[in-house]
Amino acid sequence: MYPTGAGLELCASAIAMPLEKCIAWKYRGEAIVKKSLLGVAGTVALAALIRRNARSNELFLDYLLNTVVNKVPFPAMRLALYRAAGMRIGHNSNIMMHVRVMAPHGIEIGDNCIVGEFAWLDGRAVRVGEGPGLKIGNNVNVGARTVFIPGGHLPDSPDFFGLPEKTFVEDNVWIAMNCTILYGLTVGEGAVVSAASLVNKDVPPYTMVGGVPARYLKDRTRDLDYKLYNRARWI
Ligand SMILES: CC(C)(COP(=O)(O)OP(=O)(O)OC[C@H]1O[C@@H](n2cnc3c(N)ncnc32)[C@H](O)[C@@H]1OP(=O)(O)O)[C@@H](O)C(=O)NCCC(=O)NCCS
Repeated sequence: MYPTGAGLELCASAIAMPLEKCIAWKYRGEAIVKKSLLGVAGTVALAALIRRNARSNELFLDYLLNTVVNKVPFPAMRLALYRAAGMRIGHNSNIMMHVRVMAPHGIEIGDNCIVGEFAWLDGRAVRVGEGPGLKIGNNVNVGARTVFIPGGHLPDSPDFFGLPEKTFVEDNVWIAMNCTILYGLTVGEGAVVSAASLVNKDVPPYTMVGGVPARYLKDRTRDLDYKLYNRARWI
């Protein structure tokens, strides 16, 4: 016996509803696949452009990194593009959006690091001797708006002599927001640089410094047991 009248309508709507849902999912799925493919193709094309200009055209590379790449809202894509530009970045590290990067081939960042928004990473001191110009170890937190300055001029030099100098940040360091780190120095393992400080000399390991210029404030515990991880799929 077949359903008639209201029974038939009920059966038809029971079939139509899942069918509509299936069609909606199909279109949504297709849109996601299309967007993902476009994203991957865009990243590959941009990576090729960056790779081609990585050493030969620093000005253009600077333009690409700081007007396009640092606005890409997906960390995986952003990091792939920074790596294409020559920056060495370890596992589970993230350079957040709007970070300004110069001379990426002179920058090395370890595992589990976070570089906050609007920070400045500058690797130009790579031109002096061996190794990277700016080397950041593992598990380092660089607060938003912190600036690494890679060199300067001698104020009393008649010809305004300028020299870049290398900077090292060792493992487990926390540099809080809005700090300025001058050149030719080491921020020692496990150190803390308090917010809005100006660091103009070495920071001893496991100490907290702060102020302008930064002074020793107190010791930090050596009993640290944390690993930074900040890798949302976007932003
Ligand atoms: C470092 C910080 C966490 C304070 O640590 P704390 O162990 O609680 O230290 P205290 O507040 O007890 O301060 C200890 C001394 O350091 C001084 N001090 C703290 N922060 C300072 C700073 N930014 N600059 C100068 N001196 C500072 C305090 O005045 C105090 O000095 P005193 O003993 O003479 O009074 C905090 O000051 C800070 O900088 N936070 C960063 C916040 C931030 O940037 N967040 C973004 C996340 S990446």
